[in-house]
Amino acid sequence: MVLYINACVRKESRTNRIAECLLEKLGGEYEEVKLLERGLEPLSEEMLIKRTQLIEKGLFSNPMFDLARQFQQAEQIVIAAPFWDLSFPSILKIYMENIYVTGLVSEYGADGTPHGLCRAEKLYYVTTAGGAYVSDFSYDYIRSLACDYFGIRKTELIKAEMLDVVGYDAETIVEQLVSLLQREF
Ligand SMILES: Cc1cc2nc3c(=O)[nH]c(=O)nc-3n(C[C@H](O)[C@H](O)[C@H](O)COP(=O)(O)O)c2cc1C
Repeated sequence: MVLYINACVRKESRTNRIAECLLEKLGGEYEEVKLLERGLEPLSEEMLIKRTQLIEKGLFSNPMFDLARQFQQAEQIVIAAPFWDLSFPSILKIYMENIYVTGLVSEYGADGTPHGLCRAEKLYYVTTAGGAYVSDFSYDYIRSLACDYFGIRKTELIKAEMLDVVGYDAETIVEQLVSLLQREF
């Protein structure tokens, strides 16, 4: 199963357009999680207590962990997130908080080293930026989580940048990337 984690906000999102092209190339069948439509909430103390109790009892089939189980079981993962404030929309961070369930997506070895439990062979991170794209607080962060904690060894960044800069033709830049994906995948 290909899992599409859609953190795009605008209806005419260029990031989503590029991600949809990639998803077609990956076979066209996927489960989509539109993050803004899921009523996701930042973890409160009450939620933390509940989930700690569930983890301690090994009750991973609880509905609280639906998204985490879906993430753990995905064979390929595509995240689409526009470049916002050097990072990504906050709903993606909230999603990560919710799916990072120790015992489901990751566990710690006896020596304290994290060991990934996710099935996915590859995670794609699709983004677009108004200016020049800097990966430190977006793709690099997601890649660290994927590789070091979730056990997803392969990641790839797919990006279009300079879309809001005067003198750059956003439509041409996006179209060039879409054509490249159609040719090379
Ligand atoms: C709230 C917000 C924050 C943004 N922050 C940045 C930024 O830090 N750097 C940048 O280059 N562009 C920034 N942009 C521009 C977006 O990255 C750019 O328009 C992107 O293509 C939007 O993607 P979308 O078409 O998928 O919505 C920001 C846009 C918004 C709405």
